Amino acid sequence: MTGLTARSKSMICWTLSTLLAGVVALWVWQRMFYPYFWIDLIYYLKLQMVGKATMSRMRRGVITYLDRFLLQAGKTPEKPFIVFEEQVFTYRDVDVRSNKFASVFRTEAGFKHGDIVAVWMSNEPDFLCVWFGLCKLGCEVAFLNSNIKPKALRHCFQTCGARALVVGADLISSLDDVLPTLSDSAIDVWVMAENSSNHKVNTLLDKVESASEEKPQIDVPPPKITSNFLFIFTSGTTGLPKAARVSHIKAVMSMAFLRLCGATENDTIYLTLPLYHMAASLLGIGGCIDLGATCVLKKKFSASQFWKDCIKYNVTVFQYIGELCRYLVNQPKTAEEMAHNVRIAAGSGLRADVWKEFSRRFGKIQIREGYGLTEASVGFLNYTAEIGPIGRASYFNKRTIPFEFLKCHLETYEPVRTDTGRCVKVKKGETGLLVAPITFINPFLGYAGNEAMSEKKLLRDVFKKGDVYFNTGDLMMQDHRDFVYFKDRIGDTFRWKGENVATTEVSDVLGCLHFLQEVNVYGVTVPGYEGRAGMAAIVIKEGHDFDGESLYNHLVQNLPAYSWPWFLRVQTSLDMTETFKQQKKKLVEDGFCPQAVQDPLYFLDGSKKTYVQLSQSLYDDIITGKIRL
Ligand SMILES: *[C@@H]1O[C@H](CO)[C@@H](O)[C@H](O)[C@H]1NC(C)=O
Ligand SMILES: *[C@@H]1O[C@H](CO)[C@@H](O)[C@H](O)[C@H]1NC(C)=O
Ligand SMILES: *[C@@H]1O[C@H](CO)[C@@H](O)[C@H](O)[C@H]1NC(C)=O
Ligand SMILES: *[C@@H]1O[C@H](CO)[C@@H](O)[C@H](O)[C@H]1NC(C)=O
Repeated sequence: MTGLTARSKSMICWTLSTLLAGVVALWVWQRMFYPYFWIDLIYYLKLQMVGKATMSRMRRGVITYLDRFLLQAGKTPEKPFIVFEEQVFTYRDVDVRSNKFASVFRTEAGFKHGDIVAVWMSNEPDFLCVWFGLCKLGCEVAFLNSNIKPKALRHCFQTCGARALVVGADLISSLDDVLPTLSDSAIDVWVMAENSSNHKVNTLLDKVESASEEKPQIDVPPPKITSNFLFIFTSGTTGLPKAARVSHIKAVMSMAFLRLCGATENDTIYLTLPLYHMAASLLGIGGCIDLGATCVLKKKFSASQFWKDCIKYNVTVFQYIGELCRYLVNQPKTAEEMAHNVRIAAGSGLRADVWKEFSRRFGKIQIREGYGLTEASVGFLNYTAEIGPIGRASYFNKRTIPFEFLKCHLETYEPVRTDTGRCVKVKKGETGLLVAPITFINPFLGYAGNEAMSEKKLLRDVFKKGDVYFNTGDLMMQDHRDFVYFKDRIGDTFRWKGENVATTEVSDVLGCLHFLQEVNVYGVTVPGYEGRAGMAAIVIKEGHDFDGESLYNHLVQNLPAYSWPWFLRVQTSLDMTETFKQQKKKLVEDGFCPQAVQDPLYFLDGSKKTYVQLSQSLYDDIITGKIRL
């Protein structure tokens, strides 16, 4: 510095301090206006890395879900892939056994490239061997719900156009009801058994034992990645299941789920969700394959076995959906619930009240709550320390998979259109309808055999003429910090006294009451009234009594009057769908007539400020309008 004049010294000082001031200002600005900048950026870079790796693999010819499995099986053949009860299957075991199935399907059943085959099996390792075997022949697979009823089964066959059905050993006895229909439509039925007294079905296991272990020597042309990979049936809130087409690119993108949640190849992933759903087959199993991790597969979820299993199998990650975590929270305390090694719980549908209790009770488990759909690729993932939101709507995330929140009519859920016919985005803090533009990485292949329903999921001319968006039907809110909150799914709302009642909101409020274990809120029709009156099915915690007065006070403090449930139905347990979503349809049909419903019923008596037993005479007075709601 000796050669520097005083003037240039002060110049340097000045520059440095300006620079420093600039950095500090930037830091303050970032803290104040964009506190999640780094977290968002890191997540974005992680997504970019996953995307780059996927593209580079694709250039090397590793394109499909199956390709990714074969790649992993080549890399770590001896690594345990599936642990099921006391059995362990390595990556090679599953590869070899799926070759055997492929060989039988080709030589004995005559399946070929492009055939659609339905798989009707419960969770077991052979579910994957059959599935991958069919993939190896270039067949498209349709997963059937293992609890499906004959009428729906017929419907599923008609919509997806399957030529054959593969039936798991434990479901063979349910086959009798549907076999006549299937043979009428010339559907080949293959059962996972060594023999059968029924000449209308073909057996698989006897043939698989002696089949070739080699990969079938056939040329399956590489598929277009936006073409159909498989069919997954999604149950709507009403009507028969719809066969959603899942593209190859969607399946491959799903495989990044567990990696994005922070799991590694050294994790053991506990999977209790049904494999016929996307969450388990694509996110869970796919996620394991992507990592090269081990999956502990469970035939069925069991709340009482849960932590015992986590210890027995040294589980480090588990996947949940819907109300699964509520079952865990509702279990009596055990020593195991704190003695496990679980570090991540990943999934979707965790409600805020359960979330808090879960974090409090089961130790240091990071919760990775996300949002995703079977039909489209738009999705979110929480990667911050906030409790409640399903993810972030950062600038970066929008760049990766674009989406918008639209202003919509609250009665019809139709987007609001301006005079020129265009839609309007909501402001931050307002609830809007989540839509995502149809793009190369967000293709929408529609529902098989139901073009009208497919078109209904699309919104056209949204911001400009000719653009097309996928309508998720989900209402969300983006707050001022860009966190995204799930508000409501269409069908989970009813109208009462000109207001919209969000059932999830009422459930959440009731769920906080100490004597209630489970709550399911829905709307029932009452003669003489527009819309639906609120009703809640509740389960009372063991060792507690129903307390109408504190329930009433709790509602007064927490909810507007129009959303208070007029009727309560006390049950010993609540019905759930197989994906741990609450069953509402039957409850709505049952209504609140004491003669029709065996469970104890209560009625909100505003004058007494409590809930009273709903007697037959009280019911009559309500129906005839003597008592006004
Ligand atoms: C089918 O095979 C099992 C053994 O795998 C045997 O116990 C059973 O008797 C056989 N049933 C028939 C109908 O042949
Ligand atoms: C997994 O474990 C192996 C062996 O202990 C170790 O070398 C590797 O770094 C681990 N991987 C990760 C991602 O932690
Ligand atoms: C269980 O997993 C943890 C973490 O991966 C590991 O440190 C531990 O050695 C494992 N224990 C057993 C019994 O495998
Ligand atoms: C998000 O993840 C953090 C860090 O694992 C966790 O503490 C928090 O509970 C999660 N919250 C949400 C909303 O996902």
